[in-house]
Amino acid sequence: MTANKRIVLSSDHSAIQLRQDIAVHIATLGWEVVDIGPTTPESTHYPKHGKAAARLVASGDCRLGIILCGTGQGIMMAANKVKGIRCGVCSDTFSARMIRQHNDANMLSLGVRVIGDGLALDIVDAFLTADFEGGRHATRVDMIEPLEG
Ligand code: RB5
Repeated sequence: MTANKRIVLSSDHSAIQLRQDIAVHIATLGWEVVDIGPTTPESTHYPKHGKAAARLVASGDCRLGIILCGTGQGIMMAANKVKGIRCGVCSDTFSARMIRQHNDANMLSLGVRVIGDGLALDIVDAFLTADFEGGRHATRVDMIEPLEG
């Protein structure tokens, strides 16, 4: 399977079950899932998991990434510190579609304490089935990376 169907999943301790449910779901859609854990419920620190997933996307090893924590916010902040990562937190399908179409997001973040499991899977579907539109949006996206210090 080529790198463009590889997707990395990670989370902190709060979202292990939902992450594993998402892994099963997207594997049925033909994605090669690289689930980097964690798998045990001890309290852990979302920045290290966000960073680890983001590095696999930034390196090109995985085309996309999905990360989760309680709100989706902390792990998103960590992932966005990795050069080349564009990660958005989504709690609705419209935003999940738009961050692909207009922002060329390469990572999606979800908050397990914010949304239910059914909505989470719909958001994942919206994210994975949308494509970047390019054009004027590419001009804007190209302005993001130079902002990185
Ligand atoms: C962990 O309790 C919680 O703070 C974390 O999952 C996340 O919500 C942080 O943004």
